[in-house]
Amino acid sequence: MALTDLKTVLDMAEQTKTAIPAFNIDSIPATEGLMEAAEAAECPVILAIGQAAIKEGRMAYLADLARRVAESSRVPVVLHLDHSSSYEQIVRAIGLGFSSVMYDGSHGAFEDNLRESKNVVRTAHAAGVSVECELGAILGVEDGMKHERPNLVDLNEVRAFIAEVDCDALAVGIGNAHGIYKSTPNLDFDRLQACRDMGAPHLVLHGGSGIPEDMLRRAITIGIRKINVATELRLAYLEGLRSAITSDDFYAVLRAARESVRATAADKIRIFQGR
Ligand code: G3H
Ligand code: ZN
Repeated sequence: MALTDLKTVLDMAEQTKTAIPAFNIDSIPATEGLMEAAEAAECPVILAIGQAAIKEGRMAYLADLARRVAESSRVPVVLHLDHSSSYEQIVRAIGLGFSSVMYDGSHGAFEDNLRESKNVVRTAHAAGVSVECELGAILGVEDGMKHERPNLVDLNEVRAFIAEVDCDALAVGIGNAHGIYKSTPNLDFDRLQACRDMGAPHLVLHGGSGIPEDMLRRAITIGIRKINVATELRLAYLEGLRSAITSDDFYAVLRAARESVRATAADKIRIFQGR
């Protein structure tokens, strides 16, 4: 089937009070593994291409891979640009056939984020592409993005932002962080509930790796409809490679990496889908 846009799959998640996984893709074996998990669970999947993959020059390659995966997939597939702060990069992604883009202006001034987000929404929606925005920069380091300032989203900013920006999804900082957490995450669920209560668009939780299952389930119950996971998938891939690295069968090593990613993705989907 053709690629699906983000709003469509998050609307489905809202109906079932579940969350859709946004898995960053970096390679063919890993993509095959997470697609196997999504199809086995009959769960829509968001294939996210992040800034590290783009810096490696893989934006067009991975977009072609995702499109081909969608054509043969039994579940809806979204091709999503992750954490872009460049209008030009977003326009390029739209030209490459992305069905969803994230404009991340959370590291700059609120007014700049609001203005640029409106620009991106106008352009992307004109092309039938969904838009995710962000308020409250996600802590941690990921794909070369490093944020150390407190990331608890300002509720007054949320109220002002959603009054003016018609985005399809909104990532909010509630104590979540990219990468592996140094201690148990301390998520501000009351703040998340307040975002939900003020009628925010579909809410997104970044930094999904390392968040305990009970916290993920509580966030989904409150209203998180998209959860991003990258680090745990990449670590699973490396673990799979290491487990088979002594084999002299090259493809057996890649299959071990694929299987390790599949198992990790299947576990995330189990939780996100409320099973
Ligand atoms: O945008 C990507 C995600 O927020 C991934 O976060 O690597 O902590 O799972 P994670
Ligand atoms: Zn993120």
